[in-house]
Amino acid sequence: MMNISEIEKYINEAQDFLPENEESLEQFRIRFLGKKGIIQDFFRHFKEVPPDQKREVGQKINQLKQLVQERIATLQKSLGKSQRLHQYADLTLSGDPFDTGGRHPLSIVRNEIISIFSRIGFVVSEGPEIEDDIHVFSKLNFPPDHPARDMQDTFFIEKDPERHTQNDVLLRTHTSSVQVRVMEKQKPPIRTISPGRVFRNEAISARAHCIFHQIEGLFIDKNVSFAQLKQTLYYFAREFFGQDINVRFRPSYFPFTEPSAEMDITCLLCGGKGCNVCKYTGWLEILGCGMVDPNVLSFNGIDSEKYTGFAFGMGIERIAMLKYQINDLRLFFENDLRFLEQFSQDY
Ligand code: DAH
Repeated sequence: MMNISEIEKYINEAQDFLPENEESLEQFRIRFLGKKGIIQDFFRHFKEVPPDQKREVGQKINQLKQLVQERIATLQKSLGKSQRLHQYADLTLSGDPFDTGGRHPLSIVRNEIISIFSRIGFVVSEGPEIEDDIHVFSKLNFPPDHPARDMQDTFFIEKDPERHTQNDVLLRTHTSSVQVRVMEKQKPPIRTISPGRVFRNEAISARAHCIFHQIEGLFIDKNVSFAQLKQTLYYFAREFFGQDINVRFRPSYFPFTEPSAEMDITCLLCGGKGCNVCKYTGWLEILGCGMVDPNVLSFNGIDSEKYTGFAFGMGIERIAMLKYQINDLRLFFENDLRFLEQFSQDY
């Protein structure tokens, strides 16, 4: 005889049921929902239920039916998952290798340059990207209104309305500003390199960008000579580009060095024979340099009678383009994975 507690017993059983596999789940389904199953049986005997209980018993049977259907649906899903695991998981296999990423080519080149100079005693120093006129121009011997200030197109943040340029706030146009920062804090001997980001108000093209990177070098001591400058940069060129590389120095002009020079290296593409990359000269320009102007020393509290120094500055993008033969500067900033992945083996 069918009664409420009997139905409830089945409800509890269905709730607790956990199949071992799909087969036992199917047996469960047949036992409850099959033509000769428990639920059909309840319905078949429904007419024997006394009228005053029909409502309650009917509801209970429907509750059982719904529960069993829901149980089967969820159990089917989770069985499917774990069965897939059984099929495919070979727990003796070693783990999936995961992508570790790689360094950006500019970081690789910067680190290599730092490493080369640190081997001969240069230490890294850094300065702010938002600078003032004093550190970027004035104390580097750019006189006010001197046309040399126009050599670099500056992004100004604040410009003094009275045209007292010394109050201007700006984004640094070169890492030479770090020279001033170091001299403010340190007495000679000074031997430092300063990597960093610089900003110029220039149209973006394959050869120019408004943001790029430089490395600055500064060496101040007693009796520092131009011969030492040449030898230091020759050492750098050979370490970075290979022992066969040659260098040459051409006279140039920078407000903060006197005399000033630009250094060329043998064209990496044609080996000096002449090609369209070196414009048939056989040489490629890679940096500016010179003996620190005595004005710069005395502006920064260093006795220019006692001390001399040399300085140099190079663009990291330019060096990286030469090293990897990259012909468009914009690639460094677009972060296209197809480009970056080519450097993942380097460090
Ligand atoms: N600051 C120069 C530039 O941005 C590069 C430079 C040239 C730095 C000569 C120096 C130097 O320290 O001596 O073009």
